[in-house]
Amino acid sequence: MAVVGLGVEGLCGAGAEARHAVDRAALVVGGRRHLTALGALAAGVRTVPLTGDLGAALDEIQAEPGPVCVLASGDPGFFGIVRPLAERFGAASLEVHPAPSSVALAFARLGMAWDDAAVVSAHGRPLMAAARAAASHPKVAVLVSPESPPEALGGALLELGVTDRRAAVCARMGDAGERVDIVDLAGLAAGRWDPLSVVILLAEPGPPSTPALAWGLPDGSFDHRGGMITGAEVRAVALGKLALPPRGVVWDVGAGSGSVAIECARLCPGLRVLAVEEEGDDAGRISRNADRHGVAVEVIGGRAPAALAGLPDPDRVFVGGGGHAVLSAVLDHLRPGGRVVATYAAVDRAVGAADRLGAMVQVGVSRARRLPDGGLRLAAENPVFVVWGPREELDREPTT
Ligand SMILES: C[S@@+](CC[C@H](N)C(=O)[O-])C[C@H]1O[C@@H](n2cnc3c(N)ncnc32)[C@H](O)[C@@H]1O
Repeated sequence: MAVVGLGVEGLCGAGAEARHAVDRAALVVGGRRHLTALGALAAGVRTVPLTGDLGAALDEIQAEPGPVCVLASGDPGFFGIVRPLAERFGAASLEVHPAPSSVALAFARLGMAWDDAAVVSAHGRPLMAAARAAASHPKVAVLVSPESPPEALGGALLELGVTDRRAAVCARMGDAGERVDIVDLAGLAAGRWDPLSVVILLAEPGPPSTPALAWGLPDGSFDHRGGMITGAEVRAVALGKLALPPRGVVWDVGAGSGSVAIECARLCPGLRVLAVEEEGDDAGRISRNADRHGVAVEVIGGRAPAALAGLPDPDRVFVGGGGHAVLSAVLDHLRPGGRVVATYAAVDRAVGAADRLGAMVQVGVSRARRLPDGGLRLAAENPVFVVWGPREELDREPTT
């Protein structure tokens, strides 16, 4: 199967091999615009327009015994149709002929190299998560969308406290109506821009206004059910023990306010984060807290371990609630190389979990409080046990 990316000159601008792939195809699949631009095809050649229903087009491709050619815009391997085609038919069955992607064209119009740029997509994720990811790089291309147009990106960056960026709004790259506007972030936020754009963000020289990397956020930044929250300092230790990977699946079981799940999603926007909670009221609360922090968390209402059935297997699990049956179920589902972190107030439960997982610390937090005479006292909180693993066994005391 050939996959041909078309640029502004359509098939005329494509290489000889790409044109040959179109000529020999028995089935040509592509957007209506691309199919129309091909003009009349040889007798017997079928065409299938690519509409919203990609599955139907993939079925047609599968049923076709002859050569197939799929047409796309720009580089089809860059946020394009190569991914679903490779997933369904295997990478080895594809012969890809790319044209320059919208991002390559945008940087080309600016006369800039982009091997040191990050690419962030705002498609199918909260805009705030995309804005946060974009804010952490000095040179970024953001793929915006009709739901998250350039002006919304500008607003989200300003809300995050980012000010020191120049933005190039590169609209309809590779089309006849292509246009590039360069503005500051205030201008980006205030404008009305074409949503079919790539926004290039470039850090201005000087001290960065990138948001600081913070975790163990104050309890007050999450709405919670009367103190039912893993306290900030314990949460900070638990997040460290989780050793989050950039991608994968995280479960927060007994999620309460969702604070741990939300912090995981903030720290690693590439993770898929699921929060499991049995209290009915908490489901809405977790979603509202996630919205407030601009991250995506999938909430599963129900009691673990039953509620865990059917979820994608996790790479990391935080267990904030539930007994040993929950811990067993979590370990059964954990992917190879995965890690579980659990917190307990009760010593006996913590010891049981430490025997299963292999590592434990006790976190004792004492908060400074101002006394009437101006001095400080330490107000001790109940100790919490943070248990993690699986590891072979607990560290041993040296024998004397
Ligand atoms: C200490 S709170 C967790 C706090 C949470 N980590 C946070 O920061 O907001 C324990 C939570 O676990 C929930 N829970 C306890 N057992 C559960 C179970 N078997 N399945 C699902 N949720 C459970 C409780 O309803 C409660 O909200």
